Amino acid sequence: MKKIAIAIDGPAAAGKSTIAKLAAQHLNYIYIDTGAMYRTLTFKAIQENVDLSDDQKILEILKKLDITLTPDFEVFANNENVTDNIRSNEVTNNVSKVASIPEVRDEMVKRQQELAVNRGVVMDGRDIGTRVIPDAEIKIFLVASVEERAQRRHEENIKKGIESDLEKLKAEIKNRDKMDSERTSSPLKKADDAIEIDTTSLSIEEVLQKILTIVEQEV
Ligand code: C5P
Repeated sequence: MKKIAIAIDGPAAAGKSTIAKLAAQHLNYIYIDTGAMYRTLTFKAIQENVDLSDDQKILEILKKLDITLTPDFEVFANNENVTDNIRSNEVTNNVSKVASIPEVRDEMVKRQQELAVNRGVVMDGRDIGTRVIPDAEIKIFLVASVEERAQRRHEENIKKGIESDLEKLKAEIKNRDKMDSERTSSPLKKADDAIEIDTTSLSIEEVLQKILTIVEQEV
């Protein structure tokens, strides 16, 4: 069976990583969480007390930063395991600023393209179908209402024992969507040839099945 590239884009908390991981496991493909790469850089910049509006300084950190995504979904910054650190509220609320720097995007896109060169990859993010792998055999654009996305994140937080405020989550998700959609360098946008799936009233299993059906028709 031929190995293909599957690009999954969409707004914050639309379920991209959950679905992408499951699809990758099912197909025996690698999964690349590009959001984790931007989060890792943001975490390092915060850790090094860098002014997040200093684009040059952030770029310098990236040049020295080796980001590794392991097959069991752990994330390493050089040799430091940052899997949990990159999910903090502080990182979540600052990552869109860091990800809006064009030179940062150029470098990240280059690294992501290298990871996709052999196909057999499910990659999720905001610009995978439009910029990172514009020739991906399958492009999915996952959407869901803001209310549903905030509710899912809220339940996830409660399950993990993290303090959570639903209204605050809604505002943060809206803010991140706005920044990601309005930036000049490769904004969040559905590729013309992407298939849009609204997951608002679908279960994880239903979304996965839809995607696997699309894949079966392609390979
Ligand atoms: O996917 P996740 O929500 O973890 O992504 C975190 C942030 O990283 C996004 O809100 C966006 O600002 C940035 N990002 C991006 N391009 C990608 C993936 C993520 O700009 N391909």
